[in-house]
Amino acid sequence: MNSTLSGRNRSSRIGGFHRKSPLERLDLVAAFADLDEAARSHLADMGNLPVPLADKLIENAIATMNVPIGIATNMKVDGEDVLVPMATEESSVVAAVCNAARQNYDSGFTTSLSGTLMIAQVQAVDVPDPHAARLRLLERRDDIRAICDACDPVLVKLGGGFRDLEVRLLETRGGPMLITHLIVDTRDAMGANAVNTMAEKVAPQIAAWSGGRVYLRILSNLADRRLARAHAVWKLADIGGAEVRDGMLAAYHFAAADPYRAATHNKGIMNGISAVVLATGNDTRAVEAGAHAYAARCGHYSSLTHYEVTREGDLSASIELPMAVGLIGGATRLHPTAQACLRILGVRTAERLARIIAAVGLAQNFSALKALATVGIQKGHMDLHAQNIAMMAGAVGDEVDAVAKALVAKGTVRVDVAEQVLNELRRA
Ligand code: MEV
Repeated sequence: MNSTLSGRNRSSRIGGFHRKSPLERLDLVAAFADLDEAARSHLADMGNLPVPLADKLIENAIATMNVPIGIATNMKVDGEDVLVPMATEESSVVAAVCNAARQNYDSGFTTSLSGTLMIAQVQAVDVPDPHAARLRLLERRDDIRAICDACDPVLVKLGGGFRDLEVRLLETRGGPMLITHLIVDTRDAMGANAVNTMAEKVAPQIAAWSGGRVYLRILSNLADRRLARAHAVWKLADIGGAEVRDGMLAAYHFAAADPYRAATHNKGIMNGISAVVLATGNDTRAVEAGAHAYAARCGHYSSLTHYEVTREGDLSASIELPMAVGLIGGATRLHPTAQACLRILGVRTAERLARIIAAVGLAQNFSALKALATVGIQKGHMDLHAQNIAMMAGAVGDEVDAVAKALVAKGTVRVDVAEQVLNELRRA
């Protein structure tokens, strides 16, 4: 054991940590944290992620965090049946999508995507004549295009590349700023690397042409030129009648009007969306940031979905949100689980993936609102939740089901009660 890691001399300054292998790092961490052998060997098992890959994906890797992947069934997106892998640790999320999709299986979900355009921002400050500088930059559109496209000839060959330029004058507490937006078609890539490279490459020219100083050069996660849309109709008879429908409408109106409710409403949507984004190795934080920023675009934070009543009295629901996901690059291309999930989905383009994900978000929201407006959310949660509580109380094997059933029957799903039930079961 490294003496600097034991006892009172524990130090988080571990020289050369990043140059060690994952197992060597794990040993150092185990010593630092006094992990017992069971915890150490548990972490050492990297499951189905090859150790060299884990070590390349992030810095200082020591272990992996596995979450279950469940399959959402019953989904029909644009007339095509699809099985959707969802990576989530939360019970009821997969079931919610299956249930919503079962109730509109015949018509399914109709989807679209506004495009595969990403935005990179270049921030210029101390521009002496910002209004004129804005025009000077706009006049350089072709030069800027040439610089950007030269950064990624492969993207250009695949039909992507620079598309447009926006230059905005932004009043800030630190004075006026000139913000240039590079609008780039990143096709099947999420595109962060491509647009960040372009922004960095073009920045010195922007400084020169604007006469200012350039600081930030980075993509915007408010990918509002990459909007995924999905809509669906649930027939009145299939959802349980007018009272259920009206309860769901009231739930939607609540979320549309109140940010406290909208945050939870949208969190439910992201339960579905992030699970598919994660299963396909995409960037959950990018999609979440984009979704929440888009939900606040009108000046107050609101619902990402909309609910209306059709002429026939059925429930029509829709969703629109930024969906920056790709099929190439990063973990999506490298992670074997992500690759397998993409094969299950059968998607060949980032567009199809984005559209399916929007449909999943809508399905998730439909189920949440229906449960909330009728029986409440706890009933559906209870069975799986009770199993988790049973395991937390120490139940193993067949005991898990037995304890969970007893908890649900008692109507009290708590660890202390689970422990009592388990003790009784073991004594019997
Ligand atoms: C729980 O993870 C998600 C819900 O709270 C969503 C909602 O309230 O709409 C059930």
